[in-house]
Amino acid sequence: MSTPTHPPLALAVIGGTGLYRLAELQDVESHQPVTRYGAPSGPIRIGTLDGHRVAFLARHGEGHSVPPHQINYRANLAALQALGASHVLALNTVGGITERFGPRVLGCPDQLIDYTWGRVSTICEVEADGRLGGEVLHVDFGDPYTPSLRARVLEAAADAGVALVDGGCYGATQGPRLETRAEIARMRRDGCDLVGMTGMPEAGLARELGLHYACLAIVANWAAGAGPDPDEVITLQDVLDNVAAASSGVPAVLRSMLARGPLQP
Ligand code: HPA
Repeated sequence: MSTPTHPPLALAVIGGTGLYRLAELQDVESHQPVTRYGAPSGPIRIGTLDGHRVAFLARHGEGHSVPPHQINYRANLAALQALGASHVLALNTVGGITERFGPRVLGCPDQLIDYTWGRVSTICEVEADGRLGGEVLHVDFGDPYTPSLRARVLEAAADAGVALVDGGCYGATQGPRLETRAEIARMRRDGCDLVGMTGMPEAGLARELGLHYACLAIVANWAAGAGPDPDEVITLQDVLDNVAAASSGVPAVLRSMLARGPLQP
């Protein structure tokens, strides 16, 4: 079901850890599509935000039951596409590595490095009938996030008065455990500013599927050893508290993105 049979959506939003609903959506309908890649993490809620049709999917499921390495990223994106999505804004809860990205900061990275392994990371593979699935072999991924969608996010945040750091490199780790201090030190040397567990293969698959895709990263904690207290222990409660506080500006950014008119096709 890769051909959209639904009216186009203005925007699709994928929520990460701590972001399981978009309460501002009105007249919500739920969809449970099954794609050629299987079922998505949970129901896709489609409703209106200031009159614009918007879809929301909780990446880990609405009860946070799917860990990062077991998310069916292909099904999530294919389901959104089948429901009419062409532009996807990924909300990703992350740890901050470099000084600009302390807890509760929002960022819109422009680069990424993939440290994940063993995940299904492409739609391009030989299928049971012996034919190559997917239509592309080597997609350009020099700019992993769609520049025009990133620009829209940044302009929208500025309009809405929501502070957002422009740029930075997202390092995608395998999880579900957090990283060692040595791993974070290596990632810093590699040029990573942020660390999260869900940025890949999602961004690469979005590109293969022809979806416009950008990341709005929500910093939940200093990554291991990166903060002022190098011995700090990261707790889930801190993560959730910081995500709740930092994501209060997200609906205003979404509204402002939509108010600026249709996204570039
Ligand atoms: N590391 C990886 N993923 C994360 C982190 C982290 O420190 N915080 C939130 N998601």
